[in-house]
This record gives sequence, structure tokens and C-alpha cells, in this order.
Amino acid sequence: MAAIQYTDRGAAVRVAPAGRLLTGAVLAALDAPSVLNTQPWQWRIDGDRAELRADRRRQLPAIDPDGRLMTLSCGVALHHARVALAADGAQAEVTYLPDPDDPDLLATLRYTGRAERAPHVQRLRRAISVRRTDRRPFADVPVPPDALDRLAAAAAAAGAHLHLVRPQDLTGVAVAAGHAAGVERSDPAYRADLAAWVHSDDGSGTGVPPATTVPSGARTVPIRNFTGGDENASIYSGAEVADRHARYGVVVTGGDEPRDWLAAGEALSAVLLTATADGLATSPMSDLVEIIAAREALRRTLGNVGHPAIVVRVGVAGRGATGPRAPRRGAETAVELVAERVPERP
Ligand SMILES: Cc1cc2nc3c(=O)[nH]c(=O)nc-3n(C[C@H](O)[C@H](O)[C@H](O)COP(=O)(O)O)c2cc1C
Repeated sequence: MAAIQYTDRGAAVRVAPAGRLLTGAVLAALDAPSVLNTQPWQWRIDGDRAELRADRRRQLPAIDPDGRLMTLSCGVALHHARVALAADGAQAEVTYLPDPDDPDLLATLRYTGRAERAPHVQRLRRAISVRRTDRRPFADVPVPPDALDRLAAAAAAAGAHLHLVRPQDLTGVAVAAGHAAGVERSDPAYRADLAAWVHSDDGSGTGVPPATTVPSGARTVPIRNFTGGDENASIYSGAEVADRHARYGVVVTGGDEPRDWLAAGEALSAVLLTATADGLATSPMSDLVEIIAAREALRRTLGNVGHPAIVVRVGVAGRGATGPRAPRRGAETAVELVAERVPERP
């Protein structure tokens, strides 16, 4: 495990049990998915509190000028940390956006005591370690309806609604995705965002490795083309693209403010972990909501059920290996742990 950055308040230091539990949870949350694998978060653990802060240096200027997807990604990390805490038998209280003068402080988690370890939480905790974005076409096997019901329930419990796209609405979703892709591809600033974050491992522990992407072949709903133009070299390039049995869920929120984006992120996390625990494969899709016209078209297609925050593609994984794991930032760059001074002996 990588070292954590310690803020040392004295010569001999210690971390209280609450701090140790929070640290374990925050380290687990470093596996959370994020837009273009930017991992736009910073954690600080002090005593019985963990603070989650948005890291603006990792915001995507063209793709995400309002910080929606940055905040949503932090919401995913927050939910991952809550799952890890619960799996460790710890209870925590969350305060969202606690300081109006400090909008980048997105949430605090305060340890409040021990709790029972529920078996379903252990399944979600295991899912954190094995989940990964699978962009390959899914197998020609339908997703069991009861699994879809569990995803919707998981999103609702996490604070947002998962709208399952009906077959008759798929064309509308595909048109919105095609529109978003066309607009983004023709925008040099968008291509610059991709160029900055789609690369093989450069030691930063961030970014989308080209080997985890797929050619944007013929699909019911087109998937993001990470090259911003030509097809990219991919381990999946020989795959026959069909994806007929993919199901699409749209996380929708009642409002369109930072608090809603955090809720959408927590719901996305709940959906991804529940699907993974059920043996299903997933890939988030945000291109549909990055362009205002596409987001509005998607909203109309769904029947104005709320603000579409992010789309999740769900299905039964295709055959073969899923490809390499996307890297992660070292804990020493993402987590600060404030240690307590041990009182000197008389
Ligand atoms: C808010 C958000 C938006 C994302 N948007 C897309 C997307 O449009 N297309 C895509 O293929 N993957 C998308 N992803 C998946 C990320 O690229 C992926 O999580 C990241 O590269 C890390 O890989 P991993 O999920 O396998 O750990 C998104 C993830 C999040 C959390």
C-alpha cells in the first residue's frame, strides 16, 4: 500500500481508532470510478472526521465547465467510502456541502460508533475491489429483470432515481448520444481534454489507458470514441459489435445543483457496486449529458422525469478478459491524515 501524507503535530504521533477506520474507508474509495479517470478528489482525515474536497486542478475545462462530473465523481467516492466504513462495522454521519463559503468542501464524514456488519454490505465492499468499466459489447444474454429492480432500489436508497430506458425510447437515446459525439468531436477544446487524459500509464496513476477503450463500432447506442477522431488501437478491436442486450439506466435528480450532483454520484456508485455484486458488467456514459442540447433531448426522451445526471450501460459481460485495470493515484497524493501528538511522559 502506498504511503499516506501525514501532518505531524508532534514528535511522537498516533492515530485514534476512528481515524484508522476512516483511513481504511478512504483508501478503499480511491478505487472509485471517475470521469476520464481524473480522480478529482482530496481527502483529509482529522480525528473522527474525514473531509472530501473537490480537486479543481483535475476538472475538465471543455467537457465539464460547471464541475458537474467532477462533483458527481466525488459523490461516487463518498459512497464507496461509506460502503467500506459500513463493511468495517462503523457508523458515520454525512454532512453535505457543510460550508457555504467553501464550495469545494463537498462533504464530511463523522464517525459516530460501531454498527452491525450487514452481509449485503460485505458484497458491495468486495465489489469495490473487482468492479471496472467494461466497454466491450455485452453477451447476447438479457439482463434478469429482478437484477434491474435491485439497481433501481439501490439508486433510490442512495438518493436519486434510476430511470430504466424502455426499448421504444432507445432510438431517442441513441440520437442524443450521436449528437453529443458529433458536437464534441468537432470541438478542439474537447479533443484537448481527451488528449490530456487518455494515455498509457505516465506515472501519474490517472487517465484512461487506450487498452481499456473499444472501437466505437455499430451499436444500438454509440459509446464514447476516446480518440476524438480515428479509431484507437484496442485489445478489443477484433470484437464483433452488437450489444443488443445492453440495458441503459439514467440516474436522474430533482434539481441540478451541486447537492444533486453528489446524490447522483452516490446513486451511480450504488448501481455500479450492486450490479458488480450481482455478476453484471457496467460502463458509465456521460457524453450524453455533457452537451446541453443532448442532455435536453435525453430529458425529453425520458418524458421529463427529472434532470439526467449520468447514464449507465449494464449487461452480462462478453467472453474473455476485461483488459488491464485503469491506474489509480497513490494515496500519498490523495489522502492527508492528521496524526495526534502523544503526550510526553513525566
Ligand atoms: C462521472 C463519470 C463519467 C464517466 N463517463 C464515461 C464515458 O462517457 N464513457 C466511458 O466509456 N466511461 C466513462 N466513465 C468511466 C471512467 O472512464 C472510468 O471509471 C475510469 O476510466 C476508471 O476506470 P475503471 O472504472 O475501470 O476503474 C465515467 C465514469 C464516471 C464516474
